[in-house]
Amino acid sequence: MYKIAVIPGDGTGPEVISEGLKVLEAVSKRYHFEYETKIFPFGGEYYLKTGITLTDEDIGELKKYNVIYLGAIGHPEVKPGILERGILLKLRFDLDQYINLRPVKLYNSSFCPLKDKNPEDIDFVVIRENTEGLYKGMGEFQNKGTPYEVAIQVSYNTRKAIERCIRYAFEYTRRRNKNKKLTLCGKTNVLTYAWDLWERTFYEIAKDYPDIQTEYTHIDATCMWMVKNPEWFDVIVTDNMFGDIITDLGAIIQGGMGIAAGANINPEGVSMFEPIGGSAPKYTGKNVINPLAAICALSMLLENLGEEEASQAVENSVIKVVNTKLRSLAAGKMGYSTKEVGDLVVENL
Ligand code: IPM
Ligand code: MN
Repeated sequence: MYKIAVIPGDGTGPEVISEGLKVLEAVSKRYHFEYETKIFPFGGEYYLKTGITLTDEDIGELKKYNVIYLGAIGHPEVKPGILERGILLKLRFDLDQYINLRPVKLYNSSFCPLKDKNPEDIDFVVIRENTEGLYKGMGEFQNKGTPYEVAIQVSYNTRKAIERCIRYAFEYTRRRNKNKKLTLCGKTNVLTYAWDLWERTFYEIAKDYPDIQTEYTHIDATCMWMVKNPEWFDVIVTDNMFGDIITDLGAIIQGGMGIAAGANINPEGVSMFEPIGGSAPKYTGKNVINPLAAICALSMLLENLGEEEASQAVENSVIKVVNTKLRSLAAGKMGYSTKEVGDLVVENL
């Protein structure tokens, strides 16, 4: 019996999670596994009502679950940073979900904004370090409010966190068994402390993986190649900030936020699965948002639970729906409502 903690969260989060849970129910019957869910209220509304984002006790409670299924965090009436840091990043950090895994996979070339790119050209995975870097929140203001004000934001990188992330990336590249190529994406030419450590660690660990081809690209060039030659990539490993940026670019070349999913993984603990698109306030409550990103996140969640066949079945159904039904992957333009797209995935399972 799997225990699944569900945090629908803000904006369109609840709508897409509800479609994901609909698919979960259907696929659990087909593949004969049992689960129980508990809904947690964390998010903007809860914060506005109680002043609480997420407590240490809540983290303790979440540790009792096998996995977490998250909708979206972000509320237009809450100042930027409070919910992001107080909920989303606290979950990632306190549960030590040190890998942020984001597949970039095009299912249908007509939804790709790049000219002449097909599904075989866009199929790579970004592994983003998920606990440190600029996201650590280290820094300070000096002379705040004066003309001499200084804002310092530190990128914090430990050998330990870099090493476990890079090792995971090598193992993943081997397991994925596609081109067996791992690209380190950084900025060694300017950020000469952080990326020196990353690069040294990368090539040291590479010695343990002679079967994996290694490559280094700067972050700016990576953005260019992702648009020009996405077929060059197999697995990319990078830090928290660069990973954040290139996975939005990745999302758009795979067809948009409507389809992009990610996993926050603690290989030894509780992992969390989410659509990466955010709370989309302007589409909230309209039954127009695309639930496929949340359903793809569910597929990743099932894989994490060891339900490989169920996971594959969900992905196959998504592929079928994308290729035979939807007019677009964008909110309001799919030709179907949010709920209808969820139904289509269930029907095609
Ligand atoms: C993401 C999001 C978050 C991040 C925000 C909401 C804090 O953009 O998951 O990519 O920056 O990690
Ligand atoms: Mn992001």
